[in-house]
Amino acid sequence: MTRQLLVTSALPYANGPIHLGHLVEYIQTDVFARFQRLRGHRVAYLCADDTHGTAIMIRAQKEGRTPEQLIADMAVQHQRDFAAFGVSFDHYGSTNSPANYAICSGIWSNLRAANMVVERSVERLYDPVQQTFLADRFVIGTCPRCGAADQYGDSCESCGSTYAATELKQPRSVHSGATPELRPSRQLFVRLESLQPFLTEWTQRSGALQQEVANYLAGHFLDKPLQDWDVSRPAPYFGFEIPDAKGQFWYVWFDAPVGYIASTAEWCQRTGQSLDSWWKNERCEIVHFLGKDITYFHTLFWPALLHVGGYRLPSRVQIHGFLRVAGEKMSKSKGTFVTAAKYLEAGLDPEWLRYYYASKLSSKIDDLDFQVDEFTGKVNSDLVGRVVNLASRSARFVESCGLSASYPDDGGLFARAAAQREAIAAAYEACDYRDAMRLVMTLADAANEYVEQKAPWTIKKDPSRARELQDVCTVVLNLFHQIAIYLQPVLPKLAAKAGALLGTGCDRWELVTAPLVGTKVAKFEHMMQRIERDKVQAMFVPEASVPAPTIPAAPTPAARPAAPAAATGETTLQKEPLAAEITIEDFQKVDLRIAEVVAAEAVPEAKKLLRLTLSLGAGQTRNVFAGIKGAYEPEQLVGRLVVMVANLAPRKMKFGLSEGMVIAAGTDGEVFLLSPDAGARPGHRLH
Ligand code: MSP
Ligand code: ZN
Repeated sequence: MTRQLLVTSALPYANGPIHLGHLVEYIQTDVFARFQRLRGHRVAYLCADDTHGTAIMIRAQKEGRTPEQLIADMAVQHQRDFAAFGVSFDHYGSTNSPANYAICSGIWSNLRAANMVVERSVERLYDPVQQTFLADRFVIGTCPRCGAADQYGDSCESCGSTYAATELKQPRSVHSGATPELRPSRQLFVRLESLQPFLTEWTQRSGALQQEVANYLAGHFLDKPLQDWDVSRPAPYFGFEIPDAKGQFWYVWFDAPVGYIASTAEWCQRTGQSLDSWWKNERCEIVHFLGKDITYFHTLFWPALLHVGGYRLPSRVQIHGFLRVAGEKMSKSKGTFVTAAKYLEAGLDPEWLRYYYASKLSSKIDDLDFQVDEFTGKVNSDLVGRVVNLASRSARFVESCGLSASYPDDGGLFARAAAQREAIAAAYEACDYRDAMRLVMTLADAANEYVEQKAPWTIKKDPSRARELQDVCTVVLNLFHQIAIYLQPVLPKLAAKAGALLGTGCDRWELVTAPLVGTKVAKFEHMMQRIERDKVQAMFVPEASVPAPTIPAAPTPAARPAAPAAATGETTLQKEPLAAEITIEDFQKVDLRIAEVVAAEAVPEAKKLLRLTLSLGAGQTRNVFAGIKGAYEPEQLVGRLVVMVANLAPRKMKFGLSEGMVIAAGTDGEVFLLSPDAGARPGHRLH
């Protein structure tokens, strides 16, 4: 029976690039979608950018553009990366779309009608510098339970406890470094308690969740009354204003999952289908793929919204673990935070990564580890050595004569490989791709043994054995064809090349049961390269966090270190040609550090100067004069993170000693201090 499946991956945030960690998910989902299509089922694979929230608003503001411009840019980048990795969405939308607003509004009015929305005043943390309320993840401080420093406002990575952001000790804003204030805010909440029996039933007994996920929910959330869910955020917020609550916006996690439906709606509109035939149809299976970090949004809030909104519940929520690199969390400073773009720039084939992930993914939520040697080894030995080799060692010999007219005796090899199709399909269906790859590689081993034993290159030398040569190659190429079909969900490009070689498709699962005979064989074209380990290693270079070279040069290069222009002393920033080229060694002499402005005051006697007290962490402070008066109010700077030259020889000035420079950029009349991204801390060294 033909199934109808609606498949989704989580919607990536529009505030960052796609990286190797994301790709675990998008490749995993794509393999599933392609597998289902290969089996002849009807599949819609949908996704969208998740565009709302404080982070995007603040980043756009820092970059001097509108959030709409930022998300339009990111949508292009994301889709380009996904396309390069062969991720075959049927539609890619955006949560900032009219369709999404309409569907959110519908669900919202159902919540109101069911009397599930309540309003309360809550004290929330507010960043007085950025003038915005702070989401939990944008506050860091000391864990109230174990005392670990630098923990996020929702949970401690050191002891694992969860708490309210207001409980953090020595809290500071990730955006500005300022100490947050408590401010009252009217907020809207969705009451989930009435849905507790429904959610308990669905999570524990519907079979939609992996057992470990069901257990986690039972033990952490459903064992006590569900708390009301805080779904509104006060202005300023980049998102949708709630239709019946002026000045209040839906929290990003309200409208984000609705984006699954909105993306489907846009696709249906485009292809002339009805949305209800996907989202309100008992026959349609909805399958969500997502990472373990967003489990509870998808297994508690989301089913609650679907239920109240009158939509179908997911048939399956498939949750995966996180990607680590060489056993550690991905890290920008260690160079293990590899973006999709960087992988491609390094000249690596996207199908290598698809295979590598497939060979490691199981249906469990365990983390995955990227290891250079394992990656290189698997691709070279499995794909090149065991799979492509079958074609490269046989196709040439039958280029002129094609395949034998009837399928020769192969001792049962083809039949045995065909008989594996249900076992391999079951492994794909279960998302146990590791097992599927293992089964296919066992078939490849049997085929390679056959090649070794028959040695077509030896038969070739004896013209009287031409018929035998053709038969042997017919067997090998048929086994290769089966393997290419089995691997098609993972390696669509390789499968297409195999199809082109054999003048057939690799686009239907059942083709594995019918041997190809009497057909032409195309000229053998190179199918897949071996990986060079160095190329893989080359991806892992720490990101240079050095300011961009568009900054004008300092006016008197001789008297200053060869650094980007700085606002210091009486220096004004002028339009100047770029300074003379320097070597990396020259540049490395400059010790650039993140510093926090702990005090700032105008120097009354100087037109352009502010006196700044900068903290470099660990109790070190510096006094620096910066030529930024007029551009910044002193009070506005306190708590802000800046970049400073920390090893500049102190300079005696009329008003006191200046012990460094603050980095800024701009043209005449305009000065912009450079600040690090969220997460940087005073004392961090730029490299
Ligand atoms: N925007 C939310 C999802 C909203 S869904 C209605 C989000 N975005 S994300 O960009 O942070 O992550 C997108 C997906 O990628 C999530 O499922 C997340 O778990 C996954 N991953 C992000 N980093 C990952 C790894 N390092 N490893 C594996 N998966 C990772 O969450
Ligand atoms: Zn702790």
